[in-house]
Amino acid sequence: MQKITDLPEWRALTTHHQQIAKHDMRDWFANDATRFAKMSLQVNEILLDYSKNRLTPETLTLLCKLAEASQLSQKIEAYFTGQAINTTEKRPVLHTALRNRSSEAVWVDGENIMPLIADNLEKMRQFTDAVRQETWLGCTGKPIRDVVNVGIGGSHLGPFSAVHALAEYTHPSIRCHFISNVDTAQIRDILQKVNPETTLFIVSSKTFTTIETLTNANTIKAWLQDHLANKGFEKHFAAVTTATEKAVQFGVPREQIFPMWNWVGGRYSIWSAIGLPLALAIGMDQFLEFLRGAHEMDQHFRHADVSENMPVILGLLGIWYINFFDAPTQAIIPYSHPLTHFRAYLQQADMESNGKRISQQGAPVEYATGPIIWGEPGCDSQHSFHQLLHQSNHLTPVDFILVGNQKNDLAHHQDVLIGSGLSQAQALLQGKSYQQALSELLDEGVKEDEAKQLAHHKVIPGNRPSNILFLQSLTPYNLGALIALYEHKIFVQGAIWDINSFDQWGVELGKQLLPKILADLKNPQNQTVYDASTQGLIHHYKKLRKPS
Ligand code: F6P
Repeated sequence: MQKITDLPEWRALTTHHQQIAKHDMRDWFANDATRFAKMSLQVNEILLDYSKNRLTPETLTLLCKLAEASQLSQKIEAYFTGQAINTTEKRPVLHTALRNRSSEAVWVDGENIMPLIADNLEKMRQFTDAVRQETWLGCTGKPIRDVVNVGIGGSHLGPFSAVHALAEYTHPSIRCHFISNVDTAQIRDILQKVNPETTLFIVSSKTFTTIETLTNANTIKAWLQDHLANKGFEKHFAAVTTATEKAVQFGVPREQIFPMWNWVGGRYSIWSAIGLPLALAIGMDQFLEFLRGAHEMDQHFRHADVSENMPVILGLLGIWYINFFDAPTQAIIPYSHPLTHFRAYLQQADMESNGKRISQQGAPVEYATGPIIWGEPGCDSQHSFHQLLHQSNHLTPVDFILVGNQKNDLAHHQDVLIGSGLSQAQALLQGKSYQQALSELLDEGVKEDEAKQLAHHKVIPGNRPSNILFLQSLTPYNLGALIALYEHKIFVQGAIWDINSFDQWGVELGKQLLPKILADLKNPQNQTVYDASTQGLIHHYKKLRKPS
């Protein structure tokens, strides 16, 4: 493929950017009362308002042309139909098949994988029903009260953020916990809270080789053996993995192992049995609703025209800011406490997918790629970093995520919450001029000389971009749709940047280096020669660990 920066469509955008970069959204709003109507879009129960962006209808047309020139439509079809689009690992990318609620077959190496997926969903249903209905008991005959997921990265962040998001839907007597880090503080904290007789540990690891997860799983196994010696502690383990034999060797009974497949990327695996903690928490019917929401977003993404396609528009807006405005970061600010961990989920989904610098053809790319995702829930974020959004020289596009109805909300609280999100987006747009700031100060009775000086500090430039994603309510269905929306946004950007969004070689080097360092941390004499910094720090740590 031709380098994207050499495409006429890219050049047209560069010229267009020079023409409109200094223009002001406030003028566009003043001159066009239909801007919201033109630049908002509803897909099922999610509204996207993208009118507060530094773009005109012409920008959108040019961006859509870039998408077409990048063969986005063909790439979308290749993605959904199981072509090996993860080229460096020679695999298809089929998380969309996991939530395919239609009768369409999906083929991998000549096999329709839909029956495998259906079998797994049925196995999940039987297991989750039995645990939730208390017919599946621990080894001493007691029902399960605590479920602990033991996994990291994609084997953690999906269920972790979704269980929090759907807390209002969870079983009243089953609590979910998550052990991801290898830090003793985390595992100790959880093990202090749970009773071994009534706890189910799910070891979630696509590869069953991840050192953090296996270290934690082995510590838990020893803890269970200690507490339930000779009583059949294996009943307290389930596993989700592609490596069944490794899980069996570890000690998980074969019938308590749920499959995964290589055509599912870790960070896209919440739709598989990696979602087991979520299914246990909300029940299988609601888990299927979660899948249905995602599937319907998939249908929209696959079939809607690019100019009316929500994931495509979000993806193109990101490219507009990253590549043409040199704005490399993207803030995610949900005005919804249940979505507190959604940003962490997106950080892996987006940055592990598109934090790349090599094109599909193996050449270095000369443009910025994946956004730096950050954020916190509002209103907390307002009292923390919004100062920088409003008055620094950084241009930071924001996605505000608002939820119309939260289950059991108090009307006044909800109004303040949503009103706050709307006023932040409005403030980013409108800002405050010097003249406005000065008049306010004079009205307050500040002396003219002082007011003239102070007014400079109160100026807020405005003309700063944001999207509003407005969910009708935070149901399993809408959460599924929201996650799928962002997954596809990531896909669109990777497709246009011509990178492989589905490998993650960058995280491998640290994994390769760890064993040697670990051996040297344990060995009184270093075996390896390191750079002076690493060497010095290893010595320092060893001194710190010496018994005083
Ligand atoms: O961090 C790298 C990574 O490979 C992620 O892509 C993955 O989600 C995570 O590690 C966990 O891997 P596993 O599920 O194999 O334990």
